[in-house]
Amino acid sequence: MEFELEVEKLATTPCNITANELEALLTADSNHLAPLFSTAAQIKTRFVGNKVYFRGLIEFSNRCAKDCLYCGIRCSNSKAGRYELSDQEVIDTARLAADLNFGSIVIQAGERTDKQYIRHISSLLEQIHAATNNTLGITLSLGEQSEETYRLWFESGATRYLLRIETSNEQLYKKLHPNNANHSFATRLNCLELLQKAGFQTGTGVMIGLPFQTEADLARDLLFMRDFDIDMVGMGPYIEHADTPLYAHSHLSPPVQKRFDLTIRMIALLRVMMKDVNIASTTALQAIRADGREAGLRVGANVMMPNLTPLKYQENYFLYQNKPRANEHTLTYIRELEASILRAGDVVAYGEKGNPLHFYSREKK
Ligand code: 5AD
Repeated sequence: MEFELEVEKLATTPCNITANELEALLTADSNHLAPLFSTAAQIKTRFVGNKVYFRGLIEFSNRCAKDCLYCGIRCSNSKAGRYELSDQEVIDTARLAADLNFGSIVIQAGERTDKQYIRHISSLLEQIHAATNNTLGITLSLGEQSEETYRLWFESGATRYLLRIETSNEQLYKKLHPNNANHSFATRLNCLELLQKAGFQTGTGVMIGLPFQTEADLARDLLFMRDFDIDMVGMGPYIEHADTPLYAHSHLSPPVQKRFDLTIRMIALLRVMMKDVNIASTTALQAIRADGREAGLRVGANVMMPNLTPLKYQENYFLYQNKPRANEHTLTYIRELEASILRAGDVVAYGEKGNPLHFYSREKK
């Protein structure tokens, strides 16, 4: 009963739910959650529709200057074979996305900030637009950069940027990253501000079920995304990787099923709190359950990022264990995704860029 009231409170605008109320919903017995999930599904239908936008994911390179304690492609992991796609491979993959009638692509890579790299990305953006007649929305996910770099990439034709805050709790952030100037919570926050200022549709997100993380942290993560006026969100369960320092603390993470369940709750709560944002149903969900991404769609997610990275590189972009790889045959892989989308009661929005509606309401403010 009491939870129904809280869900109702969530659904009203402006949403004024508190961290304690969110925490109660994150810790509630699952028997009480049906009203939350059905409200989230209704809000999704009403505000963003039952369309799923595909973003073709291009994992451009796993070279990384960062050393995040949870990540398989951290620079200290000498077991990761490093690669970078050639320009031709990037262009071919972007063309493939356009041929498949995806509205958008995402270019993701480890972090690099040298001048040559910055210019290279800029040139790739221009080459992609030229090769696909400006038909694709381009999202970048290339980490922390200077304001100048963000502006340059925006001018070169990227319109969206994903930069996860990983956790909004600074103390927890410090436990997940080396203690040095290259891994600063303040810088991460500042970069999110710079991205909004540069004009990007701005996305962030967190990992769920990390060692040392509590449900109260997750509740505050939701408020952080609301208060930051974020346009797009990608949240996924934390999944350990044996060749990382955080692996030693695995016993402090909840069981994977619990991480999965918490992620589903987080998606549902976020959809109810932020009705017009784009929410991705992430690959990490699928790493835990074969139908994981479908489960995300059922409670409010409306974006999927099919991996189009050439297969020979996919095994090297190994952020966490059991990371699913795309099917050998792209078309079979896409058909399987389509089938899961239909099972969730949605349709694929082919040929549409699917900009987050929240971006336009934020611009008007
Ligand atoms: N488990 C889950 N997600 C991870 N990421 C990196 N390592 C892991 C992991 N072990 C996520 C981070 C990063 C994104 C690219 O991948 O949130 O921002």
